[in-house]
Amino acid sequence: MKSKEIAKDLFYVGVNDRQKSLFENLWPLPAGVSYNSYLMIDQKTALFDTVDICYADIFLKKIAALLDGRKLDYLIVNHMEPDHSGSIRMLKEQYPDLKIVGNAQTFKMLEGFHGIAEGLHEVKEGDTLDLGRRKLQFLMAPMVHWPEVMFTIDLTDHILFSADAFGTFGALSGNVIDTEMNADAFIQDSIRYYSNIVGKYGNPVQRALKKVKDFEISTICTLHGPVWRERIPEMLSLYERLSRYEAEDGVTIAYGSMYGNTEQMAEAIALSLSEHGVRNIAMHNTLKSHASYILSDIFRYRGLIIGSPTYSNQIYPDIESLLSKIEIREVKNRYFGCFGSFSWAGAAVKRMGAFAERMNWETVGAPVEQRQGTIAERFDDCWALGAAMAGKVAG
Ligand code: FEO
Repeated sequence: MKSKEIAKDLFYVGVNDRQKSLFENLWPLPAGVSYNSYLMIDQKTALFDTVDICYADIFLKKIAALLDGRKLDYLIVNHMEPDHSGSIRMLKEQYPDLKIVGNAQTFKMLEGFHGIAEGLHEVKEGDTLDLGRRKLQFLMAPMVHWPEVMFTIDLTDHILFSADAFGTFGALSGNVIDTEMNADAFIQDSIRYYSNIVGKYGNPVQRALKKVKDFEISTICTLHGPVWRERIPEMLSLYERLSRYEAEDGVTIAYGSMYGNTEQMAEAIALSLSEHGVRNIAMHNTLKSHASYILSDIFRYRGLIIGSPTYSNQIYPDIESLLSKIEIREVKNRYFGCFGSFSWAGAAVKRMGAFAERMNWETVGAPVEQRQGTIAERFDDCWALGAAMAGKVAG
């Protein structure tokens, strides 16, 4: 059994999951996902996080092969979500003298998930741990997904172990480090990963980035996706932008449609956007596009136009669900437009206006509402809405 050495005496011991359809049972994984873990072999040995329990067996075999009879001294737990903590109990059974390194929040979760309350080494902000040649330092990064999250920095070789931060969907296909692959697809999907998983926590991400700036970083070992080396500046700048909810010029149109009437309004608005110079237009029928991809585009583009039929005097259920996901993530500073249709009494457009007010977004253009299939009568209004949005985002 052979494992990839990603830096001197630092080995990649993560696993790929091409079996699950949904991450967190919510987010599609068309290209799978990796659960990354790293083993450092120094005078002391240290493992950084574990993997989903489904892969515990192969994971433990990789570690045993590398240790080759040596004991495992430390498990450093940067994140307790089960995709990373799932194998801790089995690891502890195999290495009972192991010291588990984490913070006070980590240990509450460790006891809750695994019933482990002994053999702990608690660390606080700025604490260090000597492994021999290498020295580690711990930085708390609460809410860079969960409250117990921390980053660990190898001060010797300037390696950042960043928990979920800078992670992305997509299993690794042999290559582990960005320098040995074309990582473009991973970078693209890192926006979907960020917006779906970390998107709510812009301010905590900002605080964590600020801490990291005090250190020289040559390598980022995230818990999902490639090890970053040559594309670190790109990932740092992406996180800076996403965590501030800054977006590119472009428009996301998301609509639901029962009989095709709202859909035709979306088509008219998209044509108008195009005619008025908007190059980036991401159009989603919410019944076809998984919300995961729509959220990713909403994080990417500064314009958002949503269309909904009125359904039982409410917003169409699928659109309601999308609005809730946006609201949960507290997405800031979007230009908003809305439209919709109804058969006997309109309500969806008014309710979407209330949503935009709650989000504190600027509403652009006049909302357009269509009765039955009267697109011909409202075409000019759809066109005007597209033109108004283009005036904001055409760049
Ligand atoms: Fe990859 Fe928040 O766990």
